[in-house]
Amino acid sequence: MADTERVLVIIPAAGSGTRFGGDVPKQFLPLGGKPLVQRVVERFLFDAVVTRVVVPVLDMLLNAVKESPGERVKFVAGGATRLQSVAAGLAAAGDEFDLVAVHDAVRPFFSPDTFHATLDAARTHGAAFPGIPLPDTIHEIRDEAIASTPDRSVLVAAQTPQCFRIDVLRDILTRAAREDANATDEAGLAAKYGHRVQLVPGDSMNFKITRPEDLVMAERIYAEWGGGEE
Ligand code: CTP
Ligand code: MG
Repeated sequence: MADTERVLVIIPAAGSGTRFGGDVPKQFLPLGGKPLVQRVVERFLFDAVVTRVVVPVLDMLLNAVKESPGERVKFVAGGATRLQSVAAGLAAAGDEFDLVAVHDAVRPFFSPDTFHATLDAARTHGAAFPGIPLPDTIHEIRDEAIASTPDRSVLVAAQTPQCFRIDVLRDILTRAAREDANATDEAGLAAKYGHRVQLVPGDSMNFKITRPEDLVMAERIYAEWGGGEE
């Protein structure tokens, strides 16, 4: 990798956690005593490959975190949708980056090796994401009954960090904003707009904390093999 390559990490953390429920958005709940989003930010800051981390957060929380960390982290106001939050992060980061990774604030167990492999693939192909094969068969449902069953062997579940050359990410976010398109991840959006989005093997430990039982499991895992960290 060129010494001068600049890598931006955007960690969208402006969701309201509807499926999780509760008063505090899930990304601010503790894992091993520290807010999930803080754990995720710190893991990226520990990585020398990362030039800068930008964290879009809910408006109401912006004041609380504004003054916190050092030069490499910046908190900005997020948007009403995940894509708008990512776009706000990109706009606030400036232009001086080569590659951008987008990582959910609620996936504390991402692997640095997978992150680096995804960055490498994005450098080569323009866009890349970690995906894992599905354990369950997936059915498409209509009127509460099976309408069709896609071939499981061609399906993967998308994880993050999803990585892009900055021109690719800028292109897809601009087009999505213009068309008022929505998407639950940037990788799918990039594919929709004609970019090649390279698959990199993900791993099942990199699950997303979506519902309360996911955080219970995360605490157990953390106690077992993350507890030695600060
Ligand atoms: N996110 C965001 N801005 C939004 C919506 C989501 O930054 N307007 C972020 C979330 O904070 C989270 C990531 O996108 O870090 C993944 O989204 P998800 O797990 O769906 O979180 P929420 O949207 O908060 O949860 P839910 O869909 O259950 O409401
Ligand atoms: Mg959501």
